[in-house]
Parts: sequence; structure tokens; C-alpha cells
Amino acid sequence: MNGNIMEPVPCRVDRIIRETEAEFTFRILYQGETGHGQFFQLSIPKVGEAPISISGKGPGYVEFTIRKVGRLTEGVFGLTEGSQLYMRGPYGNSWPVDQFEHQDLIVVTSGTGMAPVRTLLKHFADHPEIRKEVYLVGGFKDRNSTLFDEDRSLFDQCFHTVYPLSREKEKLPGYECGRVTLFLDQIPVETMTEYHIVITGAPAVIETTAKHFTGRGVPPERIWVSLERKMSCAVGKCGHCKMNGTYVCLEGPVFNYPVARELFD
Ligand SMILES: Cc1cc2nc3c(=O)[nH]c(=O)nc-3n(C[C@H](O)[C@H](O)[C@H](O)COP(=O)(O)OP(=O)(O)OC[C@H]3O[C@@H](n4cnc5c(N)ncnc54)[C@H](O)[C@@H]3O)c2cc1C
Ligand code: FES
Repeated sequence: MNGNIMEPVPCRVDRIIRETEAEFTFRILYQGETGHGQFFQLSIPKVGEAPISISGKGPGYVEFTIRKVGRLTEGVFGLTEGSQLYMRGPYGNSWPVDQFEHQDLIVVTSGTGMAPVRTLLKHFADHPEIRKEVYLVGGFKDRNSTLFDEDRSLFDQCFHTVYPLSREKEKLPGYECGRVTLFLDQIPVETMTEYHIVITGAPAVIETTAKHFTGRGVPPERIWVSLERKMSCAVGKCGHCKMNGTYVCLEGPVFNYPVARELFD
């Protein structure tokens, strides 16, 4: 992005897409390469800084889908199209896309957890020649908190999709009632030979989902997760993100489950 990887650079907010009441997607003008699953440190001077995953990318831009929870994210929600947002990055590793090619792929997400896999899903939607079967279980709280409606129409055409809504009592068209874990039995892992499982979202959902699949005999090394930790430097210097001796900012946020499982303990 520039010579100093620690130095935030002002970038233009090109578009703001209101996804839900508390989650907006910000399209930022950016020239540069990024990997699926990487993140940037976004900041506003005198307000704060936070790590945010890349949720979209295209020629000359990247997108971030942000949930308003605290100082920095509230500050970003106050920006308008044409404003400046400071960024440094991209940081962290990426989903091992090469390993996922020509294999079945199962993606389980909850809430804003769909953001760090959105570019990965689009990649496989756009490239039928490198994918096999893709199963997407994308959970949200209710119909008002669903994300990426337009992309999900595309995913519905290319993948096996189910979108459980944990707080809806009645079934709505295109959605199911219940938590994501209720729908994992529908994925026929027992008949699959070459496949990978990607899990993102709330730590409890990641753990329960991973345990569901390992309980059905899935080898842990077929499972990949993205972990969110409080970060400061994002370059392995401050230790804020350290879990059991592992620097999540450097060695993650994407982890193979046998490694992630040790970090949870
Ligand atoms: C690799 C990575 C990728 C991420 N990607 C995304 C993403 O794509 N989208 C996204 O929305 N988020 C993402 N996050 C999470 C995001 O970085 C955090 O939500 C971040 O804390 C937001 O910063 P903030 O300044 O707005 O919130 P903060 O002010 O840091 O607050 C964060 C949380 O802490 C609580 N809190 C704050 N201060 C206190 C206090 N004094 N006492 C008790 N509780 C307090 C707040 O209520 C809030 O729930 C990601 C995190 C990581 C590590
Ligand atoms: S955030 Fe500073 S070491 Fe990871």
C-alpha cells in the first residue's frame, strides 16, 4: 500500500451500502492486491482503529462490511460518500483457495461472519471450472439482519444454500427457522471424499459446528476457521492478539482447525 506497513493512508469512501440497521458495506477506493480472508486496520484520526475483513473487491476498490459496535465502527458509520477513511494493510493470511479448488466445499457462517468469506464464495461462483459442489449454510438472527441479498441470489444459482434465521418463529420464503447447527445434518459429508469445511462467525458457532463435523468423522485438518481477536499493531509487535503463544495477526486470521482448537483451550 505504501513504504511503511504501519502507516495509515487516507482513502476515499466511494459508496456506502446499507445492509441492515447495524451493518453497512463501505466501498473504498484502493489499488492493490489482496487475498481472500485478509483484513485491513481501518482508522479515523482521534477516534480509533480496528481490524476489518475484506468483504468485497474489484478493480480499484475494496469493500468492508462493518457492524456498528464501538468507537471506531460508530465513527465509520458517521462517514458519507466522498469522506476519507484511513487504512493500513492488507494483513494476515488468506483462505487456502488452491487447496479448495476441484474439491467439495462446505461454508458455514453466522451473522457478520459471512463478510470474511464473501469474496471466496464469489470467486467460486464466478469460476465453475474450478469448483465441485459448494454447500453454504448462512445463519442470521432474523430477516432484518440478513446480509448480501444480491450476492446470495447468485449463490442460490450456483451452490446448495440454506439460510437459517435463529429468531424467526415462522418460515419465510427463502429462509429456514432455527440455528445453523440444525441444518448441518443435511450436508452429506459421509459420501464426500475430497472436501474442505470453512466456518466463520461467533466463536460458539465455530466450535459447535467444528465439533458437529468431527463427531461425524470429519478429519480436523479438513476444517478451516477465521478467528477474531482484539488487535493493535497487526504486524506481530505488540502481543495484543496473542493466544497461547500464537500471533493471530501474523499466523491468522485463517487457521486450520487442529491449530485453532489448541488456541481455544
Ligand atoms: C481479523 C479481524 C477481522 C474482523 N472483521 C470484521 C468485519 O469484517 N466486520 C466487523 O464488523 N468487525 C470485524 N472485526 C471485529 C472488529 O474489529 C471489532 O468489532 C472492533 O472491536 C470494532 O472496533 P470499535 O472501536 O468500533 O469497537 P470497540 O470500541 O473496540 O468495542 C468493541 C466491543 O467492546 C465493547 N466495549 C468497548 N469498550 C468497553 C468497555 N470499556 N467495557 C466493556 N465493553 C466494552 C463494545 O460494546 C463492543 O461490543 C474483525 C476483527 C478481526 C480481529
Ligand atoms: S496485534 Fe500486535 S502482535 Fe498481533
